Amino acid sequence: MVDFYKEWYDKLIAHSNEKGLLVEKISDLLKGKTHESCLEIGLGTSAYFSERLGGFFDDYLIVEKNEFNEPLKTNVKIVQDDFEEHIFNEQFDVIIASHVVYYFKDLPQTIKKIISLLKDGGRAYFVVNGKESDYGPIKDAFASFIGKPYTFTYDVLKANLKEHRTKEYTTQASLSFQSHEDLYETLRLSFDLYPNEYEEQKDKVINWLKANIRGEKFFIDQKIIEVIK
Ligand SMILES: C[S@@+](CC[C@H](N)C(=O)[O-])C[C@H]1O[C@@H](n2cnc3c(N)ncnc32)[C@H](O)[C@@H]1O
Repeated sequence: MVDFYKEWYDKLIAHSNEKGLLVEKISDLLKGKTHESCLEIGLGTSAYFSERLGGFFDDYLIVEKNEFNEPLKTNVKIVQDDFEEHIFNEQFDVIIASHVVYYFKDLPQTIKKIISLLKDGGRAYFVVNGKESDYGPIKDAFASFIGKPYTFTYDVLKANLKEHRTKEYTTQASLSFQSHEDLYETLRLSFDLYPNEYEEQKDKVINWLKANIRGEKFFIDQKIIEVIK
């Protein structure tokens, strides 16, 4: 299981436009459809999604493993629990699982659980990083540095959704950075499966960034996979 490191997440978010792009795209996909309820799995360190998407729903429930005590919109409730263990007595029109599937202990089983929690005609939005742009190549380079094959969560997710009706959308997020050393720090969250190896390979990673990231931005193609039940 991968631990969630809040400081690394905050560092990435502070240098990225990814959340704004996701909200924009998911809002477009929600517009013009009726929905009463939404479930968000894993909110990160702020109520960013529910503040901006909560207005589409009568009821919005967040299930988050870690403690969260910030104020929420009136139609938003939060339960502190592990989604994989949590027992639900209801189904939802929409489920949002953004950048959370990397953390599930049993991904195939948890994907089944998410689909089972959708009402007929409901939609789930899974968000993961795609393999294009700069993200795929650095992951492959890092895998070669540590001599371990890397499986993209994107591929695992797609394989587990192949029996379902899906549509895929891409939003290209960019990370800004002052120096390649700074970019190395910003990218730490993406290597949280290998925190020690990432530290050990620091020089190689920075040299790779210097050789391959020549412009002012590092690009990540975020994949929004919409499952229609
Ligand atoms: C990388 S953050 C993503 C936050 C936000 N959804 C986003 O797109 O930026 C992952 C979040 O999921 C939470 N999380 C991880 N595993 C979880 C689980 N099994 N049940 C509930 N929350 C979980 C973590 O605590 C963290 O808040």
